[in-house]
Amino acid sequence: MTQKILLTGGAGYIGAHTYVALSKAGFEPVILDNFSNADRDTPARLAQLTGKACLCHDCDLLDSDGLDAVFAAHDFAATVHFAAYKAVGDSVARPQAYFNNNMGGLINLLGAMERHDLGRIVFSSSATVYGDCDQQPIPETAPLSATNPYGLSKLVGEQMLGQMQVAHPDWAISILRYFNPVGLHKSGLLRLSPEETTQPPENLMPRLIEVAKGTRKQLSVFGDDYDTPDGTGLRDYIHVEDLARGHVLALQALITTDESHTVNLGTGQGYSVLEMIAAFAAACGRDIPYTIAPRRAGDVARCYADVSHAKAVLGFETEFGLNEMCADSWVA
Ligand code: WQD
Repeated sequence: MTQKILLTGGAGYIGAHTYVALSKAGFEPVILDNFSNADRDTPARLAQLTGKACLCHDCDLLDSDGLDAVFAAHDFAATVHFAAYKAVGDSVARPQAYFNNNMGGLINLLGAMERHDLGRIVFSSSATVYGDCDQQPIPETAPLSATNPYGLSKLVGEQMLGQMQVAHPDWAISILRYFNPVGLHKSGLLRLSPEETTQPPENLMPRLIEVAKGTRKQLSVFGDDYDTPDGTGLRDYIHVEDLARGHVLALQALITTDESHTVNLGTGQGYSVLEMIAAFAAACGRDIPYTIAPRRAGDVARCYADVSHAKAVLGFETEFGLNEMCADSWVA
């Protein structure tokens, strides 16, 4: 019997890539998405990529009745919860929207899981919960803090799940802390972000792509006076296909062991902004003009993962290196 997995936000960037990986691993993923940050043609593209019909419900997690109808229509083995707003700067400008959507959506999902007796969830969290961490590489045991409303919504999400675990000792909960996802499926059929979105990406990679395409004149490097080898910010970039595979391993672990875990998903290797500019320019064969700009509020100098726990608990190790991450990001 194929196990159905509910992917909330499954039409989004990471959700869609995970959908393909889950289908390939023999699961039957089902998408629930309100398409606030996803293309409406993504389900058709996923059907093309997997060769199977894509089950998709156009539904907002804040619509409890709609959510109950989706749960009533399927017997889910687990849910992977991607649906959330994720732009740090946007979250500072509109914190209430992030609290309502990210925390309210999770609260509704947890209620539906209780009503429909579903006790397995994979939660899309983020390295942003480590705040400005002295320990580098960062282990899962590092202190947690939030420096912006988006990070707070992820931190509170993890804490809510911790309390749900107390109330439901039999639940199996996977918390996956993503570092910096980049890259695209090699087919070129999946996108980083929709053309129309309320949250234009603020991240480094989409902006490098814009500079290479000529839609952005130059890259502003946010500070070159950090305590890093070349003074620019150091981050742990992970290929979205590695990230998707990490979700499959996490789900398989929940189903086979019924044990909960919290795991970093990163490569364990940090690269600076200047290193990323050079690698991306080499991958796309285009000049990437840049200028040194002031630091961005809330940025930290370094953030890269201790990946030993991911290896021990999930047997997870990344397979894609920087050159492939950059090459797979450039689908001109
Ligand atoms: C990377 C580096 C910037 C843009 C955030 C969230 C995290 C996750 C990933 C959602 C930093 C520098 C960037 C630019 C630049 N989000 N930069 N010029 O801030 O590490 O992480 O996105 O899941 O939760 O916190 O990613 O790509 O914005 O920045 O110099 O125009 O690139 O200063 O050093 P970040 P980022």
